Order: sequence, then structure tokens, then C-alpha cells
Amino acid sequence: MKEQLKKIEELAVSELSSCTEIKALDELRIKYLGKKGELTAILKQMGKLSAEERPVIGQLANKVRADIEETLNNKLAAIKANAQAEKIAKESIDITLPGKKQTIGNLHPLTIVENEIKDIFMGMGFNIADGPEIDDDYHVFEALNLPPDHPARDTQDTFYISDNILLRTQTSSVQVHVMENQKPPIRIISPGRVYRSDAVDATHSPIFHQIEGLVVDKGIKMSDLKGTLEMLMKKLYGNDCKLRFRPHHFPFTEPSCEVDISCYMCGGKGCSVCKGEGFIELLGAGMVHPKVLEGCGIDSNVYSGFAFGLGLERMVTARYDISDMRLLYENDMRFLKQF
Ligand code: DAH
Repeated sequence: MKEQLKKIEELAVSELSSCTEIKALDELRIKYLGKKGELTAILKQMGKLSAEERPVIGQLANKVRADIEETLNNKLAAIKANAQAEKIAKESIDITLPGKKQTIGNLHPLTIVENEIKDIFMGMGFNIADGPEIDDDYHVFEALNLPPDHPARDTQDTFYISDNILLRTQTSSVQVHVMENQKPPIRIISPGRVYRSDAVDATHSPIFHQIEGLVVDKGIKMSDLKGTLEMLMKKLYGNDCKLRFRPHHFPFTEPSCEVDISCYMCGGKGCSVCKGEGFIELLGAGMVHPKVLEGCGIDSNVYSGFAFGLGLERMVTARYDISDMRLLYENDMRFLKQF
């Protein structure tokens, strides 16, 4: 019986060791340890043994059962671990692949500077006014003291929808709309797109942006214009920035001037950015012409005003040292990401 038990153990262990599936393992469990299994069959014959042999064989039988059970359990654990490892290997993902990055956009440099300028003027009590980009001849030219044959119209050729309706060439037209609808005191700026039939190059575009400013009240003087523009430029370009007012001519202001800022690059000494000038031209301005005020029903004996028109693209290229204005319109991410 001892021999039989040992044989069973040997057989069971060898069969178990070559077993690779859980189902086959269950079959072996039944074959050796089940109620009708081989070990049980032997134990059933224990009654035939003598009183001395019985405990010895009993002990051996228990050991054989325990050994087989242990082998079985180890095998089960090994098969499970194997299956798990296989599953992991099959399902593994290549974490070295680059992920899909969700990029967050940023504001366009034209918008950044426009927002800053709006903030500065709102801080000085200005309102933001909006005007039409498609307008009539009267608001864009005539009411601004540019009658049909005025030579200054030549420099502002634009796109006509009909003889009388056109794309505005300057935001100065908003001055007229505002003064028609609102009586002084007036303090507005008006940012927006303007159009001219210009060919595209590094400093020209048929569509660009201006910011118009208009203040009308009792006792407004040229010094108010100078103080306002000085405040704007120092906030935008720093306290060292100097302004230069040059006499000029605009039909809708008297006196008129052009305003330059000291070059941010060389501080006024002259360099490639300011083309040796030391200054960069940024805007036109002046005291609102009495004819323009009167045309909008404002008594020029009581009220006076100043106005200015800023080129936004110029402000942006000067601010960020951009050599070619076309970069602002090309939607090239390599450029736009830098702001
Ligand atoms: N509209 C002018 C231009 O496009 C700029 C300008 C000059 C606007 C003087 C003004 C001003 O309001 O007073 O060249």
C-alpha cells in the first residue's frame, strides 16, 4: 500500500507538471483527490490493515494528499500568472508614442495692443465707439472737409460699392457719426478696420487698422492733445519714450500735426529700425476744424476739440520689433505663438 501511495504521488506530480490548462488541472484534481479518485480508493482499503500499519499508512496518505494539493495549487497559480503575463504582453501600449497635445491659443498681437490701448483710454474716461466699415462719401470725406475735388482724396483711393457708398479709408468717419448723435462733452476712441487700394508690401496693406480718438468740450486745447498722447505712449512704450510733434496738414484739423515716438531700439540715436531717423511715425492729429464741428451741429464758438488717428499695425510692429507687416496677416503659427 505504501508503494501504491508513492506511485500515485509520483504519477500525479508528473502529470501535473506537464499540465498547462486550468481545465486539465481540474480533471487531474478529480482523478487523484475526488470522491471516486485514486487516493480515495486506496484509503477505502485502510480497514484491511493491521492496527500498527493503519496510523503509518494514514499519515503517509495524508502527506501524499497534502503534497498533491500543494503541487496542484502551485500549478494553478503558475498557470494563472502565465495567462496574466500573456494578456499584459498582448494588450501593452507603446507609451513612447507622442500624445495628442491640446494647444491653447493666444490673442493676436494686433488684439493684444488694441486691448492695451482701449484699457489706457478707458482709464482716462474715454468710451469706445463703433462705426460702419461700409459708409457713404459724406461721412468718410465730405463732412471731414474733403469736398469731391480735394487733392487729399487721391491718397485715400478705396473700394467703391456705388458712386456714393464705399469702404472707409479712415476711422475719422466715426467722428462724424458720433458728433451727429451725441453732444459734448465727447470723449471716445474708435478702433477698426480701414481700406485703401494699396498694393501689399512690408509696410502697406489694402486692409489695416486705425484707432481714432476724439475729444470735444469747452476749452479743449492743443496741450490736452499733447498730454493725452504722452500718457498713452509712456504707458505703452515706457517712461523714457519721447514724443515729437511735427506740423502737418489734414483737412479736418487746424492746426494739424504728425506725431512720432523716439525709437524703442536706439532711444533716438538712429538705427536700422527707425532708418536712421531716431523717431518712428505713429499717428496724425490736430484740433478739430471748426467747419467739421459746425457741420455736425456743434457751436465752434463754444466748443473745441482734438482728434487723432493711430495706425495700429505701426504700433504693433514698433512694439515687437516686427520688420514686415505682412507677418501680421499670414496666420503662421510659428509667428503667432510668440505673443
Ligand atoms: N485719418 C488720418 C489718416 O488716415 C489720420 C488722422 C489725422 C486722424 C488727424 C485724425 C486727425 O483724427 O485729427 O491719415
